[in-house]
Amino acid sequence: MNSMLKLLAFAVAVAALPACQSPAPPNLPKSTLPPPPKKDLRIVALGLGTQNYTCGAETEAPKSVGAVAQLYDVTALVSIPIFGDWEAEYLTCNANHANTNYGQRKIGVHYFDAEGTPTFDLTTGTRSVEHRGGLFLSAAKKASADAPDKACPGRNGAPAVPWLLLEDKKNGKTRGLSQVYRVNTVGGTAPETCRGQKKSFTVDYAAEYWFYT
Ligand SMILES: *[C@@H]1O[C@H](CO)[C@@H](O)[C@H](O)[C@H]1NC(C)=O
Repeated sequence: MNSMLKLLAFAVAVAALPACQSPAPPNLPKSTLPPPPKKDLRIVALGLGTQNYTCGAETEAPKSVGAVAQLYDVTALVSIPIFGDWEAEYLTCNANHANTNYGQRKIGVHYFDAEGTPTFDLTTGTRSVEHRGGLFLSAAKKASADAPDKACPGRNGAPAVPWLLLEDKKNGKTRGLSQVYRVNTVGGTAPETCRGQKKSFTVDYAAEYWFYT
């Protein structure tokens, strides 16, 4: 086909697309984590923040003491079919390196509560009105998988933190959610030893959090 004909064929194909077809739900990136339940994908968030560590003696390994991250709604972005698998990696990589929050679509915050429980509060963001009345997950780690070799390293070269599956801890705090997957991670891991580290320090990371109801 010559290029003029190709162009024409493309134009015809685009014109034939239904006008407002809502995109199919995106697929969770593949890993060795247990597959998502038959429940609904509620929201995909970009998490942008830090993993926190404390240090003792020089020869010791840093101890993980939690994390804090702002959460931004990227559901529409990861739902664009042509982006597929690679788009998500690009998204978190770019977020970590350029501190891109994708237009202030903030939907909440991820932190560790006073008991050290990983917590996702989706009621505090500028878009939280869309999630009125719920979407809070007090979670417990269920499964972990090493980030893939091709994972984007963090700004300072730190390897990517593992991918995780966390589930409702069933402590009565959760509303509207039952599971979250942390995938497409970038950076966040601590150096192997405490040599040259402060007593407490943070490492920037980015990840996608896929929330299921
Ligand atoms: C992690 O570090 C940040 C930045 O210093 C801090 O705001 C946050 O409270 C810390 N969280 C934990 C669980 O240590």
